[in-house]
Amino acid sequence: MSCEQTASSAFGAEGMLPLSGVELLTTTRAVRKRLDLDRPVSDDVLRECVRIALQAPAPSNQIAVRFVVVTDPEVRRRLGELYQTGYGVYRQLDGIYIGSIDKEEGAEREQQERTAVSADHLAEIMPEVPAIVVGCVAGRAENMGAWVTSSLLGGAMPALWSFMLAARLHGLGTCWTSVHLQQEEAVADLLGIPFEGVTQVMLTPVAHYTGETFKPVDRPDPDAFIHWNRWQA
Ligand SMILES: Cc1cc2nc3c(=O)[nH]c(=O)nc-3n(C[C@H](O)[C@H](O)[C@H](O)COP(=O)(O)O)c2cc1C
Repeated sequence: MSCEQTASSAFGAEGMLPLSGVELLTTTRAVRKRLDLDRPVSDDVLRECVRIALQAPAPSNQIAVRFVVVTDPEVRRRLGELYQTGYGVYRQLDGIYIGSIDKEEGAEREQQERTAVSADHLAEIMPEVPAIVVGCVAGRAENMGAWVTSSLLGGAMPALWSFMLAARLHGLGTCWTSVHLQQEEAVADLLGIPFEGVTQVMLTPVAHYTGETFKPVDRPDPDAFIHWNRWQA
C-alpha cells in the first residue's frame, strides 16, 4: 500500500483526519519540506477551512479577517518571488535569521539548524506551492497603543491559526510566515489589496503533505514561561 493510500484511508466520514484535540494542537507543524508541489488543492477544501476558521473569536463580534487565496500559477509565481525578496533580506539579519540564532549544543541546536535549512527550502519553492494564502485584517493601526494594535491583529490571528488547524485536519500542510511583509505594498499591488484600509498579517503556503503524519517536538518546561499571580524575573 502506498503512502497516499494509507493517508487517504485515514480520513473519516467527513473527509477529515480523526485527530484528538491534543494530537491536532501538537502536530500542526510548520510544513516546508513535505509540501506536495504536484498535487492541486481543491477550492472546496480551502473554502471549508475558511468556514471553520470563521468560528474563531473576533473583537466586538465583527469578523475582520480576510483570506486572499492565490491558486493562479502566474500570480503564485510572482507572490513567491516577493516572498523570496523578503527572505533574502531576512537571511542577512544576524541574530534574527533563524540560522544565526545560537542555541546550546545538542538536540536544541540540531533542531534549530534543521529549521533553518527547512526555512531556506520554503523560500526556494514558494513560487511553486499550489496555493498561497495571505491572511489580512480589515483596518490599519500604524503607531497605535497596545489596545488598538492588539484588537486589530486579534481580529485576524485566531482565525488564521484556526485555518491552519483546519487545513491539518484535511491533510494539508501550512507554515505561518511573515517575511513578505517587508514588501507589503508590492504584495498589495499584485493582489489588488487596498493597502490604505487592509493590513496583511501573514502568508502561508497550503499544499497536501507527503508522508503520513507529524510528531510533536520538544518544547521547554511550561513553568519557565508561567508567572503565577505576578511577573517574576
Ligand atoms: C509570527 C511568525 C512569523 C514566522 N515567519 C516565518 C517566515 O517568514 N518563514 C518561515 O519559514 N517560517 C516562519 N515562521 C514559522 C516558524 O519558524 C515556526 O513556527 C517555528 O520554527 C516552529 O516550527 P514547528 O512548529 O515546525 O516546530 C513564523 C512563525 C511565526 C509565529
